Amino acid sequence: MLDDTRSFTGEKNAGPNRNSARGFEVIDAIKTRIEAACNNTVSCADILALAARNGVVLAPAGPDYVKEDDKIYAEVLSFKRILEACNSANGQLSPNFYATTCSNLQTIVLDVMRQTVNREPRMGASILRLFFHDCFVQGCDGSILLDDTGSFTGEKNAQPNSNSVRGYEVIDAIKTRVETACNNTVSCADILALAARDGVLGGQSWQVQLGRRDSITASLSGADSDLPSPFADLPTLISMFAAKGLTAQDMTVLSGGHAIGFSQCLLFRTRIYNETNIDPAFATARRANCPFSGGDTNLGPFDNTPNRFDNNYYQNLVAQRGLLHSDQVLFNNGSQDATVRTYSTNAAAFLQDFGAAMVKMGNIGPLTGTNGEIRRSCRVINS
Ligand code: HEM
Repeated sequence: MLDDTRSFTGEKNAGPNRNSARGFEVIDAIKTRIEAACNNTVSCADILALAARNGVVLAPAGPDYVKEDDKIYAEVLSFKRILEACNSANGQLSPNFYATTCSNLQTIVLDVMRQTVNREPRMGASILRLFFHDCFVQGCDGSILLDDTGSFTGEKNAQPNSNSVRGYEVIDAIKTRVETACNNTVSCADILALAARDGVLGGQSWQVQLGRRDSITASLSGADSDLPSPFADLPTLISMFAAKGLTAQDMTVLSGGHAIGFSQCLLFRTRIYNETNIDPAFATARRANCPFSGGDTNLGPFDNTPNRFDNNYYQNLVAQRGLLHSDQVLFNNGSQDATVRTYSTNAAAFLQDFGAAMVKMGNIGPLTGTNGEIRRSCRVINS
């Protein structure tokens, strides 16, 4: 595609090309738009490769011409695909990443999550937590989904995950359906990001950014060190979220994930037996299913509507009914009191801020471009 110059002789005037090869200005037009979108990123060679395919695929069968509309459409389609690729190369996610390559993706994920939550309401909460635990270790890269093997140690047996995180088989089921619809296209990390939203609010809420790729590594030690403990105090929580680029306010609104789901007794026992900043009636109620000794795995709900994503969590904090120590520190005469109070009286503000903070959390360290891979099975790295 290089022009001749005084000091340079290109290929345009070679015998097979002169007065014969055409379309240079189409590639120029695409290049101009690509440069506006992602400066200095996409090669002319790649643009030509995509445009060549799209021009052919879109040509009507039969007569040997391409209608003007089709040409334009082909150009737009090339542009869209290249834009996806270059967004990804720039490390940016986009809500339309699979619009042309797996247009049914969102419907499939929503469908499976609806069926799953109908069958087992708690699973929405479990998948939300799975996503949080993915994002906080190496970024949102599906690393938590990898099984241990003889030669590979993953994150599933890290202390915060073992006998605690659940829902892996739901992600497998979604992946199977997505692979049938669009083979080798959608990452497990993106499936998890969509499922986390759909399990909570049925897809109505925030727009999930897409384009993550899957890791080819996992980090047991990262899971042990980077995931917050239910016994942590406020400064520790704030600094652990800050280490992931999230503010104290993000931390407080994301803790609203505890509007749904359950905790095992061993993780809140000291709170209900030893702490003083707790409503006595609440402590008594939770003790009924969490004895002083034994019953470690008995479940207690975070609030009295564990299947409904509402602002009860914050109302409970104001009433000293936080279940975990790490919940109540958000409202204990500290820097987050005002935010907790706001969300306790304004459910709409909570829902809106929660969506924005989920998008922010979903942006932690994604693998994009040619980093990582699209795993065929979410449990193992491609061989
Ligand atoms: C602020 C620091 C956090 C700490 C210390 C923490 C700790 C915990 C603990 C100990 C449990 C119970 C686990 C078990 O019983 O095995 C739990 C459950 C849960 N967490 Fe968190 N969490 C935090 C933040 C978050 C965030 C940011 C989200 C999501 C945005 C989240 C979502 C959930 C959900 C939905 C459950 C219930 C899971 C189920 O029922 O299966 N948590 N969390």
